[in-house]
Amino acid sequence: MAPIALQDFTYNRVPDPDASDVEAGPATSSGRDEQREERARRWHLALAFGLGVLFSAACYVLWHLSSSSGTGGAGARAGGAGDALEVEGDTTSTSTSTSSTAAPTSSTSPADKPFLLHFHGEPSINKHSPISSPDCPIPVHYIEDESAADGVVFNSDSYEGINQGERDQRRIDRPWQKQVIWGSESAPNRAGLERYFKSIKEDGTSDLYDADMTYRLNGSVPGTYAYGYMDFTNMPVSYEDKRQDKIAAAFVSNCHPKNARNLILDALMELLPSQVDSFGTCKNNADAEQSLRDIGHWEQAGTSPTRWNIKITTLSYYKFSIALENSNDLDYVTEKVNRAVDKLLSASRTRLRPHRLRRPDYAKRFYPSPNAAINVADYLSPDLTALSNTDSEAPEKLSDEDKAGLARLAERLKFLASDEGRDDYDSMLAWKNDEKWKTESPFGKIVELSKGPYDRDCKLAGVLRGLDWAKSTWTPPK
Ligand SMILES: *[C@@H]1O[C@H](CO)[C@@H](O)[C@H](O)[C@H]1NC(C)=O
Repeated sequence: MAPIALQDFTYNRVPDPDASDVEAGPATSSGRDEQREERARRWHLALAFGLGVLFSAACYVLWHLSSSSGTGGAGARAGGAGDALEVEGDTTSTSTSTSSTAAPTSSTSPADKPFLLHFHGEPSINKHSPISSPDCPIPVHYIEDESAADGVVFNSDSYEGINQGERDQRRIDRPWQKQVIWGSESAPNRAGLERYFKSIKEDGTSDLYDADMTYRLNGSVPGTYAYGYMDFTNMPVSYEDKRQDKIAAAFVSNCHPKNARNLILDALMELLPSQVDSFGTCKNNADAEQSLRDIGHWEQAGTSPTRWNIKITTLSYYKFSIALENSNDLDYVTEKVNRAVDKLLSASRTRLRPHRLRRPDYAKRFYPSPNAAINVADYLSPDLTALSNTDSEAPEKLSDEDKAGLARLAERLKFLASDEGRDDYDSMLAWKNDEKWKTESPFGKIVELSKGPYDRDCKLAGVLRGLDWAKSTWTPPK
């Protein structure tokens, strides 16, 4: 389970894009139930990349727009450790093809040799020729012919991925080719990703894929939900300006979690009557625009406000933001939490994300300071905080023990939101007062991870070639 975050993060509003609907998004993709969110996420990724963030799926979009070609020959590749070469050919992108034929010829040095990347079932990405970011130490080319690729990426959010039989066949047909899994929705919601995580051995390798790009921080190219446009050094809305008539706010749209999110939210709404505003389509009891108008801050959301900006602005006026993820999985902490940390965390890092916590301290990997958020998992029984899997179902009711735990949590929130609790509340946001968190906190490391000179696909290519500069620098917090 996750943290309840403080609402004092300061977080940036995103410049309004073309009036489209912008929703928070993970650094990679999304949930099946909310196509809208998915679109928005992609959009965000683009934005994030534009602003210098890594791991953004949307970079492709940008590159695509700026590249002139995208047509032409599909590369073909010979077996062995051969080189790529351009082959005349169709531009069809029917991916899974059979063997390749071309003979390797190469006049370039190995370091200059382009790394050919293919995204399975993602024609728009594969057309983004010719290369990924110009700063990449090795050229990375996107190609439409899967059989010729050095690396094939499977999006676990839209495709189940390969099974062991397919993988073994690929090893025979294209022994040089690396297989990669990529995704942002949690494994409990994505069978293919779950299968991969289960296949990881003690030494961190898997027989299914050679590399991954997911939310798991110990993966080969970890993605995070800390977007480039988030500015965690922003100061929170001042305490006096926050709503004093309310304690916490939540935005939940997916009403079919794998964990107890709905029950927890119900319980908090009941325990803190009229003090918890729930703006999402799930468990809705409040309207964000109306709420902002009521407190006279609607115009802060922008002239043609996106959903994202409305969300951020709304949350910033609450003392706590409730951030509960839809499932409990290691490192599955999305922008819900980061959003809170950014601007909202003033009252609480309200991201109650039932973050998979058999070991409740997993959520703390994402804290800017040890007391920056309240981890809901600390108030719940292990039954509710155990990791989810694809077979998990949301519990139908809370046990007496969990009800008692949530009652304690509600008391704690009430106290922190009261005058008597003011010092304690402020201490939760004290990390905002200097920048030590950047170097000293687990969250600082994550933010660091999301910056850096190379974009995601550059790093992936480097990882698949075994180059040192591409290795993830993340280490688990002690
Ligand atoms: C990442 O950490 C988790 C939890 O310790 C572990 O189960 C998993 O195998 C690790 N992944 C890799 C690639 O080492």
